[in-house]
Amino acid sequence: MNILLRPPDPELAVHSERLSALVHAEIEAQGPIAFSRYMELALYAPGLGYYSAGLRKFGYGGDFITAPELGPIYAQTLARVIAPVLRNMEQPTLLEIGGGSGRFAVDLWQALENLDALPERYWLLERSADLRERQIERLEQELAQALPRIAWLDEPPKDRWDGVLVANEVVDALPVDLFEITNDGPVECVVEIRDGRFQFAHRPLQGVLAVRVRELLERLPQELPTGWRGELLNSGEAWLDSVAGKLRDGMALLVDYGEVAADLYHRQRQDGSLRCYYRHRVHDDPFWYPGLCDLTASVDFTALARAADQLGFDLAAYDTQSAFLRAARIDLAVGDLSLMPEMQRIRVAQQLKTLMLPNEMGERFKVMALTRQLDAEQLPEALTAPGQRHRL
Ligand SMILES: C[S@@+](CC[C@H](N)C(=O)[O-])C[C@H]1O[C@@H](n2cnc3c(N)ncnc32)[C@H](O)[C@@H]1O
Repeated sequence: MNILLRPPDPELAVHSERLSALVHAEIEAQGPIAFSRYMELALYAPGLGYYSAGLRKFGYGGDFITAPELGPIYAQTLARVIAPVLRNMEQPTLLEIGGGSGRFAVDLWQALENLDALPERYWLLERSADLRERQIERLEQELAQALPRIAWLDEPPKDRWDGVLVANEVVDALPVDLFEITNDGPVECVVEIRDGRFQFAHRPLQGVLAVRVRELLERLPQELPTGWRGELLNSGEAWLDSVAGKLRDGMALLVDYGEVAADLYHRQRQDGSLRCYYRHRVHDDPFWYPGLCDLTASVDFTALARAADQLGFDLAAYDTQSAFLRAARIDLAVGDLSLMPEMQRIRVAQQLKTLMLPNEMGERFKVMALTRQLDAEQLPEALTAPGQRHRL
């Protein structure tokens, strides 16, 4: 594959070679591996994976930018949806999954404080040891007064809890499997070594993955053509159960780029949605310098809604990020632009554009709100709009 990307500095290339050697060793020992295993190692191999090694990832100086990294408006707007739920509970907990740099936790805490709706405790569940360290450092500096109520969990909660769960751009970072439609039906795309390099190979679909792919293809409104390749998040339901299964009363907010299954698994999207990010450039070769690129796939929100239903959640909202933030009164978080000094006005307008414009995050990102045991009158206003639930 021909990619016009500048190769990394030598020491970064060496880092990537170490990770490649680890993957090579695994394939040599046991044969071709599932793509989800490759992605798991590329992102999370201790000390080497993209999220586990101490490389700069988020923000303008990293590889990509997320909504919380743009500035506080995003967290302040979500706080307006979260606050009414927390206020209605005794001693609620806020659980943030995959907190990245810790920026969102700081801004959300401050926004909830301003709305007089602080949770009793704020838990962070972060898979990457490196990012967890960065979160601790940032929160010690910027949220010192709140530390007695903040804790980092080593594993998802095992006991029942009430409150709100937030996961921003986490589901798209969960390892996916790949499948391809051939003349003989769908097959799994696995990773093998050929000519000394990682390459894709086919093998028959097996086990749960085979069942899920078959079910998916049966439900689609159109047949996928030969040569079509895409992803499936086989672990989605297990992940949701692990992080939110013990939520008794409350809400889970999942924000990510993604679509309904009919759009994601569309015959015109021949190559699926797997993307690789390196220094704000997008490419499509997951084998290019593993460990230095973020690998991500769009979320199938139809599958997530089905999993949530199986787990006894009510689907309270599903909409584009722009529509959701509008319903959540982003205008109140922004304030009056005309009263701001020029530089601030430019910064705020830029944040707003990136969050709301359709070709930026506005329509590519979706928000899903799942609830348990919340009465209609307890629902925040933003969750009562019909949104795009009918499309799931
Ligand atoms: C794309 S980043 C998003 C970070 C942050 N939420 C933001 O929006 O800026 C994905 C985050 O999820 C974390 N993560 C991925 N899988 C996870 C899991 N199974 N449990 C907890 N954290 C996870 C990553 O380490 C990283 O912090």
